[in-house]
Amino acid sequence: MSDSDRELVVPEGGFWPAPEIPQPNIYPMEWHVDTPRLAEIYEKSKRAVWNPADLPWDGLDPEEFTDEQRLGIMYWFSVLANFDSSGPAVFARATIHAFEKHEEDPVRKCFFSITRDEMNHEECCQRTIGRLWPGGPLDWKPTTDLEKAAHNNIGWLYHNGGRYWSGYNTSVGRHSLAVLFTSFMMGEVAASTLFRMMASGTTHPVFQDMFQRIGRDESRHLQICMTILENEWPGLNEVDKKQITKQLRAGFVFLSMILWEPPSQFWDLPPYFLANHRVLVEYAREGGLGVLSYEEQAENWRVAMAKVRAIVGRWGIEFPAIPELDIDGVEVSGDIAAEDIIPVF
Ligand SMILES: [Fe+2]
Ligand SMILES: [Fe+2]
Repeated sequence: MSDSDRELVVPEGGFWPAPEIPQPNIYPMEWHVDTPRLAEIYEKSKRAVWNPADLPWDGLDPEEFTDEQRLGIMYWFSVLANFDSSGPAVFARATIHAFEKHEEDPVRKCFFSITRDEMNHEECCQRTIGRLWPGGPLDWKPTTDLEKAAHNNIGWLYHNGGRYWSGYNTSVGRHSLAVLFTSFMMGEVAASTLFRMMASGTTHPVFQDMFQRIGRDESRHLQICMTILENEWPGLNEVDKKQITKQLRAGFVFLSMILWEPPSQFWDLPPYFLANHRVLVEYAREGGLGVLSYEEQAENWRVAMAKVRAIVGRWGIEFPAIPELDIDGVEVSGDIAAEDIIPVF
């Protein structure tokens, strides 16, 4: 650099102020920290990263299952993917939302870490299906009645997943962080419950390893949600609280598909769906995947709901009635629309 390049220009009358950036916008850049605890969790999450490619996949041999069991396990992972494979995109969008709203730096980073983890969870669905049923979930030609039933059910399932995604897309920007995160919290309670159930039920070492790792991630996600909510809940107004009650009911309706069985609300399914779903899940169970019985699932789901109820009750949020599990509470009026459903895994 020559001396002449170094000549600083100081305008007469002072520097011109840069134009104000219209918000919401990800600029200007800044890294403010209000909650050091969240920054700590983010540091922990970086150290806890694992690689799904390193699971002992050679130990998952398609030959050790009957065709029906392989199909059943592929089917169950396709159902799981309805939730876990939406995780990366749902949280990526929430991450962008947090940047645009200039949420504190650790909130943005924690959202990113959840996005990262969810990518691993979806990779587990992808790899398991790829090994046991090449072309799955949908890119294969069914021949037997059982195969046709599985293929058709998965198609209907993703039709509903698509409705959820469209609803989430239109509603995510409208919600306060507290509303958004109460729903996320419910999703994480459900997810950690599910993977604990599966890890305890499976007889297969690859699935055991997988479910334990995913379960650990989900517990961390729950920790993140709770830490954010401790900050956000005190500022909740009555309108938000009512909306949260409705969304908790919506969360139950949506998540029951993977934790238990789908209630008749929201889900747009053909009349034979549930019967065939039961047959397919029974084959997965028989194959040692670790799907608990209908009653055991109901009991675990009930305990998880009681946990969510206790958490939100501390902040004066009423819990919705869940007659399906004999949980009483506030009657949520009106239909559950796709925009009401926020939870991810
Ligand atoms: Fe999660
Ligand atoms: Fe997940």
